[in-house]
Amino acid sequence: MNIITFDSDDKLNEAAANIIIGQIQTTPRAVLGLATGGTPVGIYKQLVNDYRRGMISFNNVTTFNLDEYVGLPIDHPESYHSYMNSHLFEHIDLPSSQCHIPDGNATDPEDECRRYDQLIELSGQIDLQLLGLGHNGHIGFNEPAHALIRGTHVVDLADETREANARYFTTINEVPAQALTMGVGTILKAKKILLVVKGADKADIVQRALQGPITTDCPASLLQTHPNLIVLLDKTAAGKLS
Ligand code: PGA
Repeated sequence: MNIITFDSDDKLNEAAANIIIGQIQTTPRAVLGLATGGTPVGIYKQLVNDYRRGMISFNNVTTFNLDEYVGLPIDHPESYHSYMNSHLFEHIDLPSSQCHIPDGNATDPEDECRRYDQLIELSGQIDLQLLGLGHNGHIGFNEPAHALIRGTHVVDLADETREANARYFTTINEVPAQALTMGVGTILKAKKILLVVKGADKADIVQRALQGPITTDCPASLLQTHPNLIVLLDKTAAGKLS
């Protein structure tokens, strides 16, 4: 595990974008796993700037997002389809046929999960998976549980997750109760994982995830088993690491 701590948000975002760009430059037809939430917004902004400056093309890249809410219309401003379009996809040259996000409105969600896993499998697995970290230790929407599920599946969102995401909706009741998420097995199969965490409110969970026991009660702790994990933290998120 390689942990790097940053004093400034800009430097952290730049470092994360450079790792992603490096992956694209060194891997013909790179497959990226992408995340949503507050954490990657600045990273995507940096990637868009780098694209506009001619530093990188996404033309041969394929992407798979970690998750999507169940039942939120695709064009709802808080759907992860909308998030990815507005923060990244509509600003770069990534062909839309190469961007994949689970369909949270599929009539048969189980079927959709299988289809998503097959697509990832067909792509030859993910070269670089970008991850944020939930306050309860979730990665993607893999919530703490007695057992974790390997592949893409429907998940009931934890109360803490709905509370954390209520900031994007008018009331907490509008936050969907379920999501489709890539499973921990698929995440751990990525050839490289880039975990990014910001904020003092995440310092405790960063410590548990990176230095605590490996347990399904903290899904991110399973990342300790990954042979190629890079962790980028701001100073405050790193505050409780020994
Ligand atoms: P955040 O979410 O980036 O909005 O803090 C991270 C997560 O829940 O995985």
